[in-house]
Order: sequence, then C-alpha cells, then structure tokens
Amino acid sequence: MKILHLDSSPFTTGSVTRELSAMIVAELCARHPGAVVTYRDLGVTPPPHLSAAAMSLLHNAQDEVITPQLQTELDGIYQSIEELTACDVLVIGAPMYNHSIPSNLKAWLDQVCQKGLTFRYTPQGVIGLIPGKTAFVASSRGGVYTTEEGKLHDFQEPYLASILELMGVVNCHIIRAEGVSRQTIGREKGLAQGRETLLQILNA
Ligand SMILES: Cc1cc2nc3c(=O)[nH]c(=O)nc-3n(C[C@H](O)[C@H](O)[C@H](O)COP(=O)(O)O)c2cc1C
Repeated sequence: MKILHLDSSPFTTGSVTRELSAMIVAELCARHPGAVVTYRDLGVTPPPHLSAAAMSLLHNAQDEVITPQLQTELDGIYQSIEELTACDVLVIGAPMYNHSIPSNLKAWLDQVCQKGLTFRYTPQGVIGLIPGKTAFVASSRGGVYTTEEGKLHDFQEPYLASILELMGVVNCHIIRAEGVSRQTIGREKGLAQGRETLLQILNA
C-alpha cells in the first residue's frame, strides 16, 4: 500500500490536524506493515500559486517561453500529480480556515486538479482519471459545523469531498475533530472523537 500523507497546518507544534493525520497514517501502517509513506508538508513548504504561464502551458499553449523559473514550477506540478497518482491512500491534514481550507492546501489542489491529467470533460460530464483510491481527511475546526445551521457555513469538508470526487476519488472518509482550538479547550475531546471515527471506519 502506498500512502500519500499531506499536512497543511502552518503550525508545526500543537496542530490538531497534524496529530489527527499522523494518527490515521500510524493506524494504516500498523494494519498494512508493508505500507510506504510519502510525506508532503504543505504547511511548511506551500506549493506556489499557479502562474499564468504554467496554466497556459498546461492548457497546450504553444508560444510560452520556458524560463528556468517556469520549468521549476512545472516540475513541481508534475511531481505533485505523480505522487497523487501513485498513491493508493491519500491522507490530508486540513484545518478549517475561514469556513474553507488553508490556501497552502488550495495551492496543492490547484496543482493536481488538471484537465486531461487527473480529470476530463466528456459529453456525459466530468470523468475522474485517478479512480480506485481511498482518502482520509483529518478535519478540524474551532467551532461546530455538524448542526443544520453549521452545515450552511461549512465549505471545507464538502469542498474537499467534491474536488476529490472530480478526480475520481469517491471513497472519502472525514475524520473530524470539532470544537478544538489552539487554547486546548476541547482538544482532547475532539481528538478522541476523531480516533473513534477512524476505528469505526477501519474496523467496519
Ligand atoms: C486563519 C484561521 C482561520 C480559522 N477559521 C476558522 C473558521 O472559519 N471556523 C472555525 O471553526 N475555526 C476556524 N479556525 C480555527 C481552526 O480551524 C482550528 O484551530 C484548527 O484546529 C486548526 O488546525 P491546526 O490545529 O491543525 O492548525 C481558524 C484558525 C485560523 C488560524
């Protein structure tokens, strides 16, 4: 089993999503002893935002001059896509930021969601080109968004599920810690909640 493990919290200490995503990966590795893990720390080393030149080239523009800087950006994009394509299981540490996801993680998604490479349009609709994978999203937020009112403001989990589905990753599990903050209030309860969900899924 090949696992791609991403973290996107900029905080390297006290991060709930880092703890949750590490818990998921540790549990998967314990159950699949031969598992190989590729780790990307998007929180510490965010991918660059896509440049106009890179986007043009990816959309088959013929007239772009490939500068060394553009080549470096393209290499990064293709590496991200390769890592995603190669994995069987994707584990994403994803804090809620302003009802959505941190821009570090969005920059990675912009790299990997590429028409013709990870999805394509057909007359019948969009087809994901990287099916057969399982995703675990280690999700945390300071508030509670699982109430009827809360769901109206949650653009984090539905967004991630939707964009993964676009690429064909339909088997997406949310491992959630709600009501957690950096002040540690609710932290232990939230992490225990996440662990319980994870074990329910893996033991099913
Ligand atoms: C910039 C920023 C924006 C945040 N926005 C929200 C939000 O919209 N709703 C919420 O419930 N919590 C929000 N939070 C709280 C985080 O989701 C929460 O602390 C989460 O556990 C952070 O993940 P981490 O501990 O892995 O860094 C925000 C925190 C930060 C730093």
